[in-house]
Amino acid sequence: MTRVLHRSIAHDYPVAASGSGIHIRDANGKAYIDASGGAAVSCLGHGHPDVLAAMHAQLDRLAYAHTSFFTTEVAEELGNDLIAHAPAGISHVYFVSGGSEAIEAALKMARQFFVEKGEPQRRHFIARRQSYHGNTLGALAVGGNEWRRKQFAPLLIDVEHVSPCFEYRDRQPNETARQYGERLAQELEAKIETLGPDTVIAFVAETVGGATSGAILPVEGYFKRVREICDGHGILLILDEVMCGMGRTGTLHACEQEDIAPDLMAIAKGLGGGFAPIGAVLVGERIFKSFERGTGFFQHGHTYLGHPLACAAALAVQRVIRRDNLLDNVKAQGAHLTRRLNERFGNHHHVGDVRGRGLLQAIELVADRTSKEPFDPKHKLHARIKQEAMRRGLMVYPMGGTIDGARGDHVLLAPPFIAEARDIDTIVDRLGDAIDAALAAVA
Ligand SMILES: Cc1ncc(COP(=O)(O)O)c(C=O)c1O
Repeated sequence: MTRVLHRSIAHDYPVAASGSGIHIRDANGKAYIDASGGAAVSCLGHGHPDVLAAMHAQLDRLAYAHTSFFTTEVAEELGNDLIAHAPAGISHVYFVSGGSEAIEAALKMARQFFVEKGEPQRRHFIARRQSYHGNTLGALAVGGNEWRRKQFAPLLIDVEHVSPCFEYRDRQPNETARQYGERLAQELEAKIETLGPDTVIAFVAETVGGATSGAILPVEGYFKRVREICDGHGILLILDEVMCGMGRTGTLHACEQEDIAPDLMAIAKGLGGGFAPIGAVLVGERIFKSFERGTGFFQHGHTYLGHPLACAAALAVQRVIRRDNLLDNVKAQGAHLTRRLNERFGNHHHVGDVRGRGLLQAIELVADRTSKEPFDPKHKLHARIKQEAMRRGLMVYPMGGTIDGARGDHVLLAPPFIAEARDIDTIVDRLGDAIDAALAAVA
């Protein structure tokens, strides 16, 4: 009997015993290809020797020093490293221990920015339906996944939600992608006007939608219009790149491909690649300056901010990515993955969409390709696919509720940046078999 409160109480989890490269091995010796990096975390796979060496060296020097007493060399180095490669206008980094903490800190920074500026009446956040920003109360409030929010709704701050950019589901047949993006931008602007522009703090969005929508891409021009609208109304833009950032889509930051920069950006997952828990907020200079000129501090903090071991892991991960030109591999293997997914599923009766960018890709399952009707949620198709994939030694990240929190199923893939073409081929083959086996039980 286990004393651990596992994610699903009735489920019997295999015991992860070791990891190396793209594989995790369980206690019985069975190997699983980590084709989802857990939840888009393990960008260098498992057991990377250079990251382990950097962590060991840091442990030998110093494991922990509270940030109200000290800074550390490794935190300063990581800060310099991240700012050297940050989007335009970002000047500082605030370290935390994961994605939800990064979002919480970003929300509070955005609010404090306006308080420092003498605009304390600003209190609204606008975010998007079907988004995922984490499970702590602030992050859950800005998140737009109905199923995750529902039972906690009475505890959540008021957040207004607008439509996500979800081309497969929501672009009308008579609309071009640009017109669709413009329609979404107008919806955002109308929401700002209804609330009163001088009451809005920020618009919060994942640059590429991840866990709860399945690698949904912004249409061309959408984020440029979002940026214009935020600027026009003096509202901050908070991008959540916890999943899609740090190289996952082929550029260090996903927003580079949209040709915009945020005021605040949450990063985590691929920052430390799973070697240690770490996240961060990348902070725009005008926000930093307002704190500096104003109260002189950000009113927040956690015990493990800037943990030296986590910083050492993240610094090593980022250096390996650059040294080994792994973003080129993300682009090359991403293109290969797209090709292979389209070959395997392009004509599949129950795959409606193959989408994504770099090594963040997904397929969306449908009962009927023409009407895009999803499977009945009672089948829990996503859970069956996960089970069949695990049986075949494959870790993927399927999720239900893709459309509205209740209906729809997708499978997210986020292989490590070190994956080779033959790994991608094996992943797609095993996934195809797992999906067909799962469908045999429901279709
Ligand atoms: C876009 C996004 N934001 C925030 C989070 C929350 O991160 P964490 O689970 O590290 O708290 C996630 C996790 O999946 C995420 O995908």
